[in-house]
Amino acid sequence: MKPIKVGLLGIGTVGAGTFNVLKRNQQEITRRAGRGIEITMVADLNTERARELTNGECEVVSDANLVVNHPDIDIVIELIGGYGIAKDLVLKAIANGKHVVTANKALLATHGNEIFKAAQDQGVMVAFEAAVAGGIPIIKALREGLTANRIEWIAGIINGTTNFILSEMRDKGLDFDVALKEAQRLGYAEADPTFDIEGIDAAHKATIMAAIAFGIPMQFEKAYVEGITTLQATDILYAEELGYRIKLLGIAKRAHVNGQEGIELRVHPTLIPEKRLIANVEGAMNAVLVHGDAVGATLYYGKGAGAEPTASAVIADLVDITRLATADPEHRVPHLAFQPDAMTDTPILPMSEITTSYYLRMHVADLPGVLADVTRILADASISIDAMLQKEPAEGESQTDIVILTHQTQEKNIVAAIAKMEALSTVVGKVIKIRLEELS
Ligand code: NDP
Ligand code: HSE
Repeated sequence: MKPIKVGLLGIGTVGAGTFNVLKRNQQEITRRAGRGIEITMVADLNTERARELTNGECEVVSDANLVVNHPDIDIVIELIGGYGIAKDLVLKAIANGKHVVTANKALLATHGNEIFKAAQDQGVMVAFEAAVAGGIPIIKALREGLTANRIEWIAGIINGTTNFILSEMRDKGLDFDVALKEAQRLGYAEADPTFDIEGIDAAHKATIMAAIAFGIPMQFEKAYVEGITTLQATDILYAEELGYRIKLLGIAKRAHVNGQEGIELRVHPTLIPEKRLIANVEGAMNAVLVHGDAVGATLYYGKGAGAEPTASAVIADLVDITRLATADPEHRVPHLAFQPDAMTDTPILPMSEITTSYYLRMHVADLPGVLADVTRILADASISIDAMLQKEPAEGESQTDIVILTHQTQEKNIVAAIAKMEALSTVVGKVIKIRLEELS
């Protein structure tokens, strides 16, 4: 059979990785796919660099439209990123009857519903394994491997840059900015690194996983997003003293509020017991815990960013599409795991309704009765305390830190309790609140 012809849009970090791995493992990949997979056209703004990288082995153009409109191209790989030109190109490729592979989680989380609808109407595939957790085949696991299960929750370290920064800060005492620069140098960070450090990239990925796990549309705009920029080193240290690590987690979870089903969709720094495997995921590594009703907890671990790990996922999609290209569209795996007419509109819960445990740190006057006042506020709100840490005031100081870990409660309860604590004359400044998940 003739090789399937591929057009690559963007030969940056992931594009170059894809070109190289496809070339290096061509024979193995052909044996698996059943026919050759050839990148015959590459579009990149920097045509000089693209020519160097491709070494005269394919046509290089600066206008990506030439690729998506080319009649010989069967599959378009979009590795430009962002939701501007990338969206136009993906929709044009689909309209031209081409299958699409993309690593662009920002695009799918924000415009995925429109893109998948267009693909379904055209009978083409849009594959996106690389969009979540880089080289880890988590999309395949959620969409196919766990298809027997009612998925209850997912919790993942799904941003390599922030995990790398937190690890470097904890292990090597590096400053935030230095660790971020290193993550950028290693090719982990997004073109705009605020997407990483403010939790937006992780929220894009959590949105995609929630859609596949629960059969709901992409609803990035309803995700709660909190990054690591306000996280303080003191809290990382206190968490360790209490037996916890702080990780930026993406969480998607079924929940029931007043008898109604809803979905929690949130990204924020989270305390995790240090004995959990996922708490020990360091550097740019990613890990995703998925809890299904039949299988229980399953853990997927691997490189979540970088040229070749991400290329691994891009090429897995190329092989899938090559194998299924001639299949009747009705008999392919649905894009979002559930049949398009079987999606539900289970609402994403507002943050006030989510349920979790909390780490609270407050700076207080070292006076009798302060602790009693604080614990009374929690007791009045029916929030039970799991553990507590009271520090000795430093030499010559009259104020100290109190750290409290609570059992589970609704976010609105803790917010109200914190407001009362901050109103106490003995509590100095703001109460720091970090969510805590036992993940058991
Ligand atoms: P890069 O910035 O390294 O690569 C993007 C490439 O696209 C650059 O070579 C850029 O050229 C080129 N480009 C920009 N605009 C156009 C255009 N209009 N036409 C043609 N080419 C264009 O990004 P990455 O490879 O890191 O990321 C690509 C995608 O993969 C993004 O969606 C990202 O989120 C995703 N991703 C990245 C991972 C990673 O580890 N890096 C991991 C998982 C997903 P120029 O440099 O000249 O502007
Ligand atoms: N910027 C992303 C990260 C790339 O750091 O995880 C992988 O999606």
